Amino acid sequence: MSNAALDQSGVWRYRELLGFVDTNQQRAVTLREGNTPLLAAPEAARYGGLDALVFKHQGFNPTGSFKDNGMTCGATQGLRLGMKRVACVSTGNTSASMAAYASSAGMTPIIFLPHGNISYGKLAQALEYGALTLQVEANFDQILALVRVLAEKTGIYLLNSVNPFRIEGQKTIMVEMLDQRDWRVPDWVVVPGGNLGNISAFGKGFRELMSMGFIDKLPRFAVVQAEKSAPFYDYFHRRGEFAAVTEPETLATAIRIGDPVSWPKAIQVIDESNGVVEKVAEQEIADAKAVIGKCGIGCEPASAATLAGIKKLTAAGVIAADADVVAVLTGNVLKDPDYIYKYHTGQLKTPAGAPIRATFGNHPVVAPNDAERIAEILERHAR
Ligand code: F0G
Repeated sequence: MSNAALDQSGVWRYRELLGFVDTNQQRAVTLREGNTPLLAAPEAARYGGLDALVFKHQGFNPTGSFKDNGMTCGATQGLRLGMKRVACVSTGNTSASMAAYASSAGMTPIIFLPHGNISYGKLAQALEYGALTLQVEANFDQILALVRVLAEKTGIYLLNSVNPFRIEGQKTIMVEMLDQRDWRVPDWVVVPGGNLGNISAFGKGFRELMSMGFIDKLPRFAVVQAEKSAPFYDYFHRRGEFAAVTEPETLATAIRIGDPVSWPKAIQVIDESNGVVEKVAEQEIADAKAVIGKCGIGCEPASAATLAGIKKLTAAGVIAADADVVAVLTGNVLKDPDYIYKYHTGQLKTPAGAPIRATFGNHPVVAPNDAERIAEILERHAR
């Protein structure tokens, strides 16, 4: 090997020439995820029956959801293994995240989505980030079963939350949160539940921090599901066998999942933390979401299940009004603008077709091109 080759490319090039390693496989795939803020939300606290409430807002991540924290690890592992193609099934956020991370690392993202049941914001991200996008005419659970077989057959690397590296990355959301709170463990951590990867990851994070001596207690976890997609809630309220919901429904399409893969781990987390599982109706999600919006914070529908759940749990006396509560907002407000417009203009309907009241509706006002008449409108609407 010539000195010139060494000088030009440094030590990694040298190791590569000796056959040790592909330089590309040594780097972490990152889009600078993490470091998301803790946001105090007094109005949301009042609505939820609490003295105070803090949101850990994962919507501030590069692709707008908590998936990025896991995807940096999952995609890095894919690269290390020399994978050329990576795949996931998704209700939208995993696919948006995977598309971005895979493309940034030079791998081909292949995504499988339930046709007609993902928000345009998320579909748009997948297309923009260059993913091969397959809209399958089946629901999330059915497609996941399909793709697990396909991945095995074709050698495509699967980056769903069954991938353990995703979970390793996702648990850091809780480490970050504790660090931001000077390692004070909250009384409650509240999260929405779909495929139950997040709650599994969070529980693992806390368990490990406790065994390493960083903390000396666990928070109580509350998982909140949408009423018609709530197999985890059903399990906790009747025990026995875990039974899937065969036709899950909710406008919060991110958590429209009836057969969550991570349920055994999630049960362990709820049991060991003395946690609870709640379910909330479409109207409750929609109103809670509007309240989070009015705080100037905003989130996507699935994330708002947290506040809706908190309201129910304080009313039932499960969460005390003076409890120290952190709720995780899993996705950005811009993920599902269609839902927002319909809610505020009174056009939102449940999947069964029942109207959802625009309790906190904020109808846009059409105004003529006339200063005087606009002044009148301002007088009427914005004192
Ligand atoms: N909130 C949002 C915004 C989500 O996208 C998801 C899951 C969840 C909550 C539920 O988290 O599945 O770990 O219990 N979205 C997955 C996806 C399923 O494909 O994007 P979970």
